[in-house]
Amino acid sequence: MSETMKAAVLTRFGGPDAFEIQSLPVPSFGPRQVRVRVHATAINPLDYQIRRGDYVDYVSLPAVIGHDVSGVLEAVGADVTEFAPGDEVYYTPKIFGGAGSYAEVHVADVHLVGRKPRNLSHVEAASLTLVGGTVWEAFVIRAALRLGETILIHGGAGGVGTIAIQVAKAIGARVITTARAREHDFVRSLGADDAIDYTSTDYVDAVHTLTGGRGVDVVFDTIGGDTLTRSPLVLAPLGRVVSIVDIAAPQNLIEAWGRNASYHFVFTRQNRGKLDELTKLVERGLVRPVIGAVLPLERIGEAHEVLETGSRGGLRGKVAVDVSAEAAIMIPPLAAAA
Ligand SMILES: NC(=O)c1ccc[n+]([C@@H]2O[C@H](COP(=O)([O-])OP(=O)(O)OC[C@H]3O[C@@H](n4cnc5c(N)ncnc54)[C@H](OP(=O)(O)O)[C@@H]3O)[C@@H](O)[C@H]2O)c1
Repeated sequence: MSETMKAAVLTRFGGPDAFEIQSLPVPSFGPRQVRVRVHATAINPLDYQIRRGDYVDYVSLPAVIGHDVSGVLEAVGADVTEFAPGDEVYYTPKIFGGAGSYAEVHVADVHLVGRKPRNLSHVEAASLTLVGGTVWEAFVIRAALRLGETILIHGGAGGVGTIAIQVAKAIGARVITTARAREHDFVRSLGADDAIDYTSTDYVDAVHTLTGGRGVDVVFDTIGGDTLTRSPLVLAPLGRVVSIVDIAAPQNLIEAWGRNASYHFVFTRQNRGKLDELTKLVERGLVRPVIGAVLPLERIGEAHEVLETGSRGGLRGKVAVDVSAEAAIMIPPLAAAA
């Protein structure tokens, strides 16, 4: 009799109730793959974008989705030499490349898999892989952010932003970030030097004031639209912009020409290298995941709702899923009160 595993299966494109908990066969693995007992996963905007049907051409139903894993190796393929059963690992499964992480067991190509930081729980580690890998790719591989430079990080209180602030500070940059006023103490506690309330202040004017008219060396765009089109207005000469959001329509970036600006568009690539670098920062105490909610796999739809509601429900940072938990471990204050 074949082994089975519990999984949250996306059965149709739609609302948070589009998932069903099912028992599926445990997947087989190849010679350069590993089989992982998933302890925790996390929710990303990509997950609810897939769920509601934004990527119908890339995901065929029924599907197990999910883009963060922290767990323990159960078995390794015949040609895997870098890990052994019992090792604790964390990684992002290949995006649009097979089954995701909303399940008790996941099979991955070994080159995706990194050793879990020793000082993080599985829930914390799972909250880091996709957002941390994206930030590393944006700051280190693309923008080449340097000690002493100034960066504008949009959306500093979000899943990506909370890690971006910490990584930029670890690099030695001055950080200006945008967030609602009530989140300013929080983003400062992560290391931000200055915070701009994007709901009441024009961030272009604010950056102009904060930098004495010079502008910033790097803009990290986690929002899209205005934050991309107006990015040249906040850039210092030879500045760089990294955008991680879908570009839904043609953009006019003519102002960027006069500043000799460089633009980078990132759809994060998965590999172990970035995770190993993040692990060093985490184990030195320079970066720590920020978790605003932890729910069990059975409540995956609710976990999606919590992320989609965002700070209106009192969420800060990531929504994580403890795969073996039976009840919610942490719910944001306003969602809990509702
Ligand atoms: N390309 C890639 O590889 C990649 C990887 C990861 C993420 N992403 C994308 O990056 C985006 C952010 O992801 P996330 O995980 O950080 O999402 P998130 O956890 O939902 O955080 C988004 C944050 O942005 C804030 N915000 C909303 N509108 C804003 C504005 N106009 N100015 C400043 N801040 C604003 C939100 O605050 P409130 O809740 O207060 O509104 C929230 O704190 C998503 O679109 C996601 O799909 C792309």
